[in-house]
Amino acid sequence: MTTPPLAAAAERIMARCDELATITVTPERLERVHLSPEHRAANDVVEGWMREAGLTTWQDAAGNQCGRIEGRVDGLPALLLGSHIDTVPDAGRYDGMLGVLLAIEVASRVRPHASALPFALEVVAFSDEEGTRFGTALLGSRALAGTWDDAWWELRDSDGISLFEAFQDFGLDPARLPSAFRRPEQLVGYLEAHIEQGPHLEDADRALGVVTSIAGARRFSLTMTGHAGHAGGTPYDRRRDALVGASELVIAVETISKELDTIGTVGKLQAYPGGVNVIPGRVDFSLDVRAEHDAVRDECWQRIQEAAADICARRTLEFDAVEIYRADAAQCAPHLRDGIAAGIRSTGDDAPMALYSRAGHDGVAVSALTDFAMLFVRCAGGVSHHPDEAVTVEDVAAALDAFEGTVRELAAR
Ligand code: GLV
Ligand code: MN
Ligand code: MN
Repeated sequence: MTTPPLAAAAERIMARCDELATITVTPERLERVHLSPEHRAANDVVEGWMREAGLTTWQDAAGNQCGRIEGRVDGLPALLLGSHIDTVPDAGRYDGMLGVLLAIEVASRVRPHASALPFALEVVAFSDEEGTRFGTALLGSRALAGTWDDAWWELRDSDGISLFEAFQDFGLDPARLPSAFRRPEQLVGYLEAHIEQGPHLEDADRALGVVTSIAGARRFSLTMTGHAGHAGGTPYDRRRDALVGASELVIAVETISKELDTIGTVGKLQAYPGGVNVIPGRVDFSLDVRAEHDAVRDECWQRIQEAAADICARRTLEFDAVEIYRADAAQCAPHLRDGIAAGIRSTGDDAPMALYSRAGHDGVAVSALTDFAMLFVRCAGGVSHHPDEAVTVEDVAAALDAFEGTVRELAAR
């Protein structure tokens, strides 16, 4: 197989993103979650593309789809390239998938010269980064990193199916999970290409950027409890309206986050009992807090709790919070960052833009195992986690060129 020119390879990546977008639980909107039949179908398609690129393939015990090319001699530690193929509900088609397809294309281009590589090259399509199904993110990459928590087996999806059962339904044996754990000496590092999911590259008129670190994040399940009652008969001075209290807190999350230059989001909110003529007695809602530095993120959460206490005192409500996810900020390794920057420079951008990632990525999990770095690709309007997610084929060609250049740079060192 001859190596296609960059433009043709970029077209193929775009076409494959389109093809993966057809593997969805509902035709109207893209949704493909961990250990679902769609995940099975996507793994099969990705495995086919890996084989076409000349990789030896396997699905690991966590449902991650993997492929490998040997380097100078068999059995060398591997440079791991990849991203994830699960999605959020009503997703775009590039978040995760673009990075997997870029990695496969890089492997395909490097393979004819693999006998000169001082490392093996592996590609991974992580099974779960978003956490859409079980509420806990990075289950695929945390398995690979060996930071699995056995308490997760009892996580349940919205149908009450446990993670343990979902593994079995998918054809995986939970008892074999540790065979997916990698050891540090098996890897030389992890590189991920990903759309930026923000507007900074576009605003700076840059196609590509080198990531410095990934923001630290914490997520909580929150409950505001008051008392339900008659919407007509209950005077205001007797109301304990949980939804008005929760609403005040939603505003406080935004105000505090802006003041501290953090990012706070309430993405889910459900009022109970949910009658048009009933005062809400309880509200369940979510909170996602992120910041470049963990101390500021934690200060933000502290101030949100103080705001909640103040609201509850004024409105005679109760507030409860359960932390459901925590990932500390992860620093990209300087030597791999330099490799990415060199890859970008090889495309003609003499001064690559550096930026930190506000979004979470598999690198957060993999950083417990090995060094990592990331290449960001401009996306239209910075839009992501939305079907309007878009990239240009020219930017994808530049990303492929830079990503391949990065691997060559690291191989040459
Ligand atoms: C992952 O996409 C996240 O940052 O939430
Ligand atoms: Mn995402
Ligand atoms: Mn992603």
